[in-house]
Amino acid sequence: MYKLIINGGIVLNGHIKAAGSKNSSLPILFASILANGPIILTNTPHLSDVSTTLRLLMDMGAEFILESDNSLFVDSSKLTNLVAQYNLVKTMRASILALGPMLTKYGKAKISLPGGCAIGSRPVNLHLKALENLGAFIKVENGYIYATAKKLIGTEIHFDQISVTATENIIMAATLATGTTTIHNAAQEPEIVDLVNCLIKMGAKISGAGTSIITIEGVDELSGVTYAVCPDRIEAGTYLIAAAITGGKITIKNVCYQSMRAILAKLLETGADIKTEKNSITLDMQGKRPKAVNIKTSTYPNFPTDMQAQFTALNAIADGCSTITETIFENRFMHIPELSRMGANLTLEDNTVTCKGVKSLTGAHLMATDLRASASLVLAGLAATGTTTIERVYHLDRGYETIEEKLKLLGAQIERVQD
Ligand code: EPZ
Repeated sequence: MYKLIINGGIVLNGHIKAAGSKNSSLPILFASILANGPIILTNTPHLSDVSTTLRLLMDMGAEFILESDNSLFVDSSKLTNLVAQYNLVKTMRASILALGPMLTKYGKAKISLPGGCAIGSRPVNLHLKALENLGAFIKVENGYIYATAKKLIGTEIHFDQISVTATENIIMAATLATGTTTIHNAAQEPEIVDLVNCLIKMGAKISGAGTSIITIEGVDELSGVTYAVCPDRIEAGTYLIAAAITGGKITIKNVCYQSMRAILAKLLETGADIKTEKNSITLDMQGKRPKAVNIKTSTYPNFPTDMQAQFTALNAIADGCSTITETIFENRFMHIPELSRMGANLTLEDNTVTCKGVKSLTGAHLMATDLRASASLVLAGLAATGTTTIERVYHLDRGYETIEEKLKLLGAQIERVQD
């Protein structure tokens, strides 16, 4: 295993390029199951979750080639093994996204239940109920989901709760169903729009992506496609906070700032100066200490839960008191005890953290627990005086492409060393 060692207190300055979106790449890779030929993806990030997805698809009989120009050639058009095994699914909950495509393309699927993770129980009841509404027969036994369907039949789907991957699963399942499916209370995240744009290029007939009502008219088949994955708004937001927390100035290229409005609005509230151009964002903290800002996570287009831990680290050293309320996941506070060990003044009660900003944090030996909590520890380490060591950085590698290399480009003193 590896750990990161950070010498904090350095003001970060410079330019970096955002990677492609993890949460777009994963559903689009699973959408390759729907195609009658190969897909070619560009701007896919080099992340362990992408590798896990490719391994899962390969396990089912898909082929892939990482081309020399960094494009990804994936042919999942002729799967021979309609099973997503526990040993891979347990490492990546998004594996549930194989269910809809396999069911609508082949009429059957066996997927390990993903199980919970550090941030919550992560049930899949919304996925399963909606697939049954489309005519699937679903049994859950011995930790596996067994699904069969002669042919899915389009219908009206009403989600009791907004779910990103449940929306994605049903969109993909409905593309090859008979008739029309309308999803009500659909998630509106930009990653869903990216998936739908790719599916439309493959021949799907979909309207309403990015709104709460999405209509899919089933077609007979979908073709292969060449598609560029959209930029990762959460990775970009994380690096903007790296500049804000150290008082620095950075420019991030290859971003879509329009999908980051809620994040940028909160960063402006901290006193940061922000400039947006066609596909870049510059944040200049001008050496100032950030002002404390209240955060309440919600579904898109409101403030994203995936930025909550990172903003908590920023509030920990901000001027003033703030509250951070998590409304999406029941346990997305694994970073709190670790930040407190660095001297942060944080009190957790139910789903709200009260934060009294301190002038500075001190470096400490920390343990990463989940993807975004780990990112918040890195941010705190960059700002802290002294040395911070973060163990189990495999959590970070799931969602951040070569994080220490990008931070070094911005002037950080950070090294990845073997345990
Ligand atoms: C997606 O997870 C993202 N993952 C998450 O990003 C993100 O935090 C989350 O959406 C919310 O934006 C991917 O896109 C691969 P949900 P997802 O279903 O779809 C409950 C990251 O850090 N729920 O929108 O799994 C659920 O427990 C990851 O990049 C049910 O009750 O999240 C949660 O409370 C973490 N039953 C709420 O809905 C279900 O069947 C929203 O979860 C499904 C979800």
